Amino acid sequence: MNSTTISMEKVRTLDERIFQELLRLNCSLLCINEARGKKRTISLRALYDNDREFWLRESSDWTYYVDSHLISHIDEGLQAVDLELEKRLTVNEESIEAKISGEYSHLKDIPPGERINALRETLARINRLIGSRSSSEQEKRDVLVEASYYAWLVNKITLDEVSGLSDRDARSATGEVARLTENIVGALTDVLSEDDAPYTFMHSLMDKSNGSTVRHMVRTFLMAHRFVLFFNRQMNDEGLASRLRVDFSGKYRKWYASLLPDIPESSLTLEHVFKGGIRPVGQQELKIYSAGFLLHDIGKQRYISYFEGDESYDGRKVEAHAKTGYRMLLQKSVYSRKIAAIAGFHHEYYGHKSGYGYYRELKALMELDQRAHRHDSCISYNLEDLNRFATLAYLPVKFLEIVDVFDAVTDPVRTYKSYMGTAQALKFIRTEFIDNNKKLDIILFDLFVRFMASERPVV
Ligand SMILES: [Fe+2]
Ligand SMILES: [Fe+2]
Repeated sequence: MNSTTISMEKVRTLDERIFQELLRLNCSLLCINEARGKKRTISLRALYDNDREFWLRESSDWTYYVDSHLISHIDEGLQAVDLELEKRLTVNEESIEAKISGEYSHLKDIPPGERINALRETLARINRLIGSRSSSEQEKRDVLVEASYYAWLVNKITLDEVSGLSDRDARSATGEVARLTENIVGALTDVLSEDDAPYTFMHSLMDKSNGSTVRHMVRTFLMAHRFVLFFNRQMNDEGLASRLRVDFSGKYRKWYASLLPDIPESSLTLEHVFKGGIRPVGQQELKIYSAGFLLHDIGKQRYISYFEGDESYDGRKVEAHAKTGYRMLLQKSVYSRKIAAIAGFHHEYYGHKSGYGYYRELKALMELDQRAHRHDSCISYNLEDLNRFATLAYLPVKFLEIVDVFDAVTDPVRTYKSYMGTAQALKFIRTEFIDNNKKLDIILFDLFVRFMASERPVV
């Protein structure tokens, strides 16, 4: 219309949160019908309530305009929110590095053979725990936390040490650590699966995170594992699949439509979201997922000293950890491709512009090359679907992303600003990662909210 207004047609091409914000503010639109020579001012809310898609239609007699200063103002606000969020997630990750560096240096000086023996002893300790009926809740919790932390740290040091070796030599030097770690994770998941006091367990685990042992990686591993168990229970005992099928068209279809543009919205089903249908995760598969959860941030190891005392934010350094972790696990270790993928793709966020990782980069290359690819699902249980770009995400990663973000914003030992309580964090994540940006999966997040309610009271 003129330099102080901007058409809604243009707003369609901007950040999708801008429209949501305009709606929240209930701004007025200048509505012009050239053919009939009509001009009116109507509130956006009134137009939207009458027809939710009015501003998305290509052909309409009416053209709608909004104040461009308002758009700039909203855009600035959104940029500030993005920056704040990046800082929160990043500073949390950096603070992990600083805190573990002391223990890292200490353990690094111990000969590799002794570390491996200590890992063996850790495995024996967990197995004794499984065999004993008399172990207390406290003992169980301590073993879970200490064993996972120790296994993680030994992996980090071992993979760090072999970074300069050829892939073949590196694999043989890290083989025993990987084998023992998979056994430890398997044994820990057995303990976690039989735990029948979830409230007490999670509550004490979170309390313990104020201390010096539990770290982001341990909490994420334990919580993500329990989240998948909860998912399985909901599938097996609570009829989750049929409930979702009933809810899908009213509650979820619209949300997924923009993620799968090749599929007409009206024919979008739950089977397009979960390729091959939503179903429980098998016991063996869950052990693989859990090893991936434990090792997901292993790629940060190169930056331990680099980040110390460094207050400045550098997105590129942070972004590198996903790809570094992927390469380390894939090339320098004998861990499976699935475990490497969990580490490599845990910041893809459904291809959102603030995410990062190999998947989007390879996909962009394919697009440049004009090679055909068509996503026909959002989430696949099969990694091969991701490798051939037939799906947007690999299932364990969508579980992990939620827990990872939740842990970042609720970490009580964070040094940056105050951490959020559970209820506040869940609300914040829903707004920023589901409603305003499609980064986490909405169905799994709804389930996560119920999982948290079942694990501990929302405060
Ligand atoms: Fe990460
Ligand atoms: Fe993480």
